Amino acid sequence: MAFKSATILGGRGMLGSDLQREAAHRGLAVQVYDMPELDITDDNQLNTVVSDSEVIVNCAAYTNVEKAESEPDLANQVNGYAVGRLGQMAKEANVPVLHISTDFVFDGTQETPYVETDEPNPVSVYGSSKLLGEKLLTESGCDNCIIRVQWTYGKNGVNFITKILEAAKMRDSLKVVDDQIGSPTHTMEAAKAICDCLHLPKFPQGLYHFAAAEFVSRYEMTHYLFEKQGITTPVHPCKTSDFKTAAQRPLSSRFHCEKIEALLGRNIPTWQEMLNNYLEKI
Ligand SMILES: NC(=O)c1ccc[n+]([C@@H]2O[C@H](COP(=O)([O-])OP(=O)(O)OC[C@H]3O[C@@H](n4cnc5c(N)ncnc54)[C@H](OP(=O)(O)O)[C@@H]3O)[C@@H](O)[C@H]2O)c1
Repeated sequence: MAFKSATILGGRGMLGSDLQREAAHRGLAVQVYDMPELDITDDNQLNTVVSDSEVIVNCAAYTNVEKAESEPDLANQVNGYAVGRLGQMAKEANVPVLHISTDFVFDGTQETPYVETDEPNPVSVYGSSKLLGEKLLTESGCDNCIIRVQWTYGKNGVNFITKILEAAKMRDSLKVVDDQIGSPTHTMEAAKAICDCLHLPKFPQGLYHFAAAEFVSRYEMTHYLFEKQGITTPVHPCKTSDFKTAAQRPLSSRFHCEKIEALLGRNIPTWQEMLNNYLEKI
C-alpha cells in the first residue's frame, strides 16, 4: 500500500528535516511534529497525533550520546519507553510505524559488517536506550519497520563533518581517530530510502540496516573531506582511547546492507558519492 500522507516525529531534526523535504517532493502530504509542540513522552499528545496519522515515521530521539551517560532516565524515556507506547497506540489505531535506530546498539567489536540478525550489545546509555525502543516497538505488535542508520550527516544538524570543518578553522593541526570505521551517510539518502519504503506496495516489516556503500575510518574520511574542500590544516591519526569521553563508542560501525538493497531493488551509493553531493550543496 502506498501512502498519501505521512506523519514525521522529530521532523525538524537533522534526518527529519531532509525527510520532510523528500516526502513533500514525492507528493506525500506531510505532517511534521517536534519539540516543543509534541513531546513523545507525553501520552496524551502522542495519542492525538497517532490517531490522526496514516503512517508514522519516528525520527524523534534523545541523540546527545555524551550527555545520555548522566541522564539515563531521560534517554530511556524518550528512546525506549515512549517508542514502546507509540507502538501500543499505533497497534490500537492500526497505523504502521517506521522507526529509526542506530549502529550504537552494537559493541563494534565484530570483524565483519553487521547484519540485522547479529546480536546487539550496546556499550553506552544512548545505545541501550535505542535498543530498548527497538524491543518495545517490536513487542507492541504494531505494523513496524525499524531502519538502523549510522554516521549520518545533513545540512540541518551538528555532525562529524560540521565539527571537523569548524575545528580546521580554529586549530593549527588536528588529531582524528583511525580506529573507528563506518560509512558516512547523507541524511538525504536515508530520507530517500524511507520514502521508497513508504511507496512499496506492502509496508515492510522488521529490521533493516541502511548506510552508504564502502567503509572508511574517521581519519581517512577527514583527509578526503579536506582535499575536496582545499583545506590544508595538517591531520594526524590517533586512537579512540587517546580521547577521554563519557560514552564508549563502537569502533566498527560497518553495516551489511543487502537486505534493504533487495527490498528497494537498488544499490546504495558510496560514501564518496554522497559526500561529494553534500559538499556541492553547502
Ligand atoms: N546523527 C547520527 O549520527 C545518527 C546515527 C545513527 C542513528 N541516528 C538516529 O537517527 C534518528 C534521527 O536523529 P538525528 O540525527 O536527526 O538527530 P536530531 O537532529 O537530534 O533529531 C532528533 C529530533 O528529535 C527531537 N526530540 C528530542 N526529544 C524529543 C521528545 N521527547 N519528543 C519529541 N521530539 C524530541 C529533537 O528535538 P530537540 O533538538 O529540541 O531536542 C530533534 O528535533 C534518531 O533515531 C537517531 O537515534 C542518528
